[in-house]
Amino acid sequence: MTAEIIYDEARIPTYTLPDPLVGPDGAPVTDAHAWRERRRPEILRLFEQKVYGRTPPQSVSVGYEVTDDTPGALNGMATRKQVTLHFGNAADGPALHLLLNLPSHATGPVPCFLGLNFSGNHAIHPDPAIHLSTAWMRPNPEGGIAENRATEASRGFNASRWAVERILERGYGLATAYCGDLDPDYDDGFQNGVHPLFYGPGQHKPEADEWGAIGAWAWGLSRALDYLETNSGVDAGRVAVLGHSRLGKAALWAGAQDERFGLVISNNSGCGGAALARRRFGETVERINTTFPHWFCANHQRYNGHEDALPVDQHMLLALVAPRPLYVASAAEDLWADPRGEFLGAAGASPVYRLLGTDGLASDVMPDIHQPVTSRIGYHIRAGKHDVTAYDWERFLDFADRFLGGKQPITIFPVVSR
Ligand code: GCU
Repeated sequence: MTAEIIYDEARIPTYTLPDPLVGPDGAPVTDAHAWRERRRPEILRLFEQKVYGRTPPQSVSVGYEVTDDTPGALNGMATRKQVTLHFGNAADGPALHLLLNLPSHATGPVPCFLGLNFSGNHAIHPDPAIHLSTAWMRPNPEGGIAENRATEASRGFNASRWAVERILERGYGLATAYCGDLDPDYDDGFQNGVHPLFYGPGQHKPEADEWGAIGAWAWGLSRALDYLETNSGVDAGRVAVLGHSRLGKAALWAGAQDERFGLVISNNSGCGGAALARRRFGETVERINTTFPHWFCANHQRYNGHEDALPVDQHMLLALVAPRPLYVASAAEDLWADPRGEFLGAAGASPVYRLLGTDGLASDVMPDIHQPVTSRIGYHIRAGKHDVTAYDWERFLDFADRFLGGKQPITIFPVVSR
């Protein structure tokens, strides 16, 4: 690794962002129809080819196995359901273990948050009835991981990041699953996880423009949503997909590709998430591709040190969510993720939101700490480090109340001229 890490605004190289509303031929996109029919698919394709890799278009068989269905869980607050999604036909094939808690007091289908977790479902809450994951885990002795497996000591280890009771109290469900069920988070040449299910004859790894781990995680979020659509306790038109950090990158990519997600939230998603790559502040393309070569597609390596050659930047990923509500959250001490770059990513998506008849991001200026912006693109920066805190959850819940609340379906593509 040669390049030094930039933590000083004055040292950011001069850059020009690609305009999401100008096509490759230089023609401006002036109405919602042109965005929808031409520019949006173009941008989506560029992210597939150059950044995250294509998600295979074919489907695999998915079987649902309900392993737990318990009313009155969490001291009566929740109905807890655990469902295994078995992918493909092999008995020992990959499987996603989904944990769903729905508020007991609900009188009808509820809106729901859906996000992947880092350490297994059992780590998000001390509830002893949550199945202990048997999957491979990244080393973390403090988190109760021994020899890459969870132990009883890992129960509730990440509970501070999941405001389960608050979510239920405020009338939302919470669905979560372990990212490693989809693709274990290490570079093994894609021999495990869901990738091999899609290999053609003689294929042993994804092609240079095919998906990496982030692509597989995003795919799994969509399969979880397929399941939620079958659950009558969930209002599947009001599912907010969210994620922290690497899983925030995955949530954004899932929300960009799958327009069934009614709201998209990224928390401290940084490089490859909401932060503009061209700023090269904190983590850079080269750095992320070197430390985590399995996250993106192989083509993305070409942009190591060459951010300006990318035909997209991350504001265009955020624009793919438009006009659905989008929330970007930063943390002041999380310089590695470039909070200002995350704000500028959100601001850069705003013209597309406005073209589609919404207010976009209502502030051109980065707000102060704990001064959330709550327009159709929401944003906050809180004090503290790289994490998900109670403060973040309160803001996500407020934002969801505003944009997923009520019973009105979300209008996905209003046709409004510029
Ligand atoms: C590393 C990585 C980031 C990532 C983070 C996380 O710091 O460099 O890109 O977001 O891990 O997932 O916690």
